[in-house]
Amino acid sequence: MTDMLTIARPDDFHLHLRDGAMLQGVLPETTRHFARALVMPNLLPPVVTTADARAYRDRILAVQPEAAGFTPLMTLYLTETTDPEDVALGAAEGLIAAVKLYPAGATTNSASGVRNFDAVRAVLERMAEIGLPLSVHGEVTDPRVDIFDREAVFIDTVLDPLRSATPGLRVVMEHITTAEGVAYARAGGPDLAATITTHHLILNRNHLLAGGIRPHYYCLPVAKRESHRLALRAAATSGEPGFFLGTDSAPHIDALKEHACGCAGCFTATNSLPVLAQVFEDMGALARLEGFTSRHGAAFYRLPPNTGTMTLERRANPLQLPEKILTGAGPVTVFDPGFPLYWHVAP
Ligand code: NCD
Ligand code: ZN
Repeated sequence: MTDMLTIARPDDFHLHLRDGAMLQGVLPETTRHFARALVMPNLLPPVVTTADARAYRDRILAVQPEAAGFTPLMTLYLTETTDPEDVALGAAEGLIAAVKLYPAGATTNSASGVRNFDAVRAVLERMAEIGLPLSVHGEVTDPRVDIFDREAVFIDTVLDPLRSATPGLRVVMEHITTAEGVAYARAGGPDLAATITTHHLILNRNHLLAGGIRPHYYCLPVAKRESHRLALRAAATSGEPGFFLGTDSAPHIDALKEHACGCAGCFTATNSLPVLAQVFEDMGALARLEGFTSRHGAAFYRLPPNTGTMTLERRANPLQLPEKILTGAGPVTVFDPGFPLYWHVAP
């Protein structure tokens, strides 16, 4: 049995870092393992302009642990008033790595998202010209559509028409959760990719709902039935370059998760690598872990591969992690995969 694995340092192509005391509390959990992360712009108010993104990046760098060697990759929150020129300038200076599309109302802090896709046409066309990826939260928000169907309906009614109308637009389907998402990403050619989270490789909707409601497993898109989880595991471990890691680690304080109307988000920054190593081992695909965590995403985003390495060791004793991270904003529960973690990241 393999018990030691050295890979290029991983990147996280979908991460929520928040701001202020929460940012300060959660950032070390990411910088400990990841070289770079695509930082989501759904702050309140959202990160809309290149100037907003520069200021946010500077706030991240200001609280980054010394010698972390971490590079935040910034995103802009697409609104119906986004200026194509501002996006192009941010991309040209190397600050902006992607523009994020949230359908209005789809998830946490998405009220400023897009309702009328004609209003963002000029931005999308400019992005297609310069090769800047659109990172998409792929769920419709129509209350008539069942929450478990919202990803599949989005693909058919929004994403496919949007891609046909904007040839050359490079798109990342964020945090796919369905077999339909896997199939669509697979068929999309080199301009389409998909991120897969750590927790969607572990959870199906029974984990969330059967035998008691488990608020720390509630995230968006919501975990689906088991057949979809299996499709995601097959995709992540396939070695195909169009699938890569975006943890969607999304911290909320416990008081807001364990609540009558609990927030969506799983906090996986702390243990994603040990969990993923276990998943890939279980799938007989440890040799493909590096592609998923450290190669495919950088290649899609046209970034140089990381030069540093990370070594994972399978030890006899399971990893002992704190149940919660104590941030200045309040405690944040670390994702519980439901099984012991024998893979340790070597110091
Ligand atoms: C994210 C958050 O909390 O910002 N929550 C989540 O469940 N993933 C928003 C998102 O990415 O949808
Ligand atoms: Zn997210």
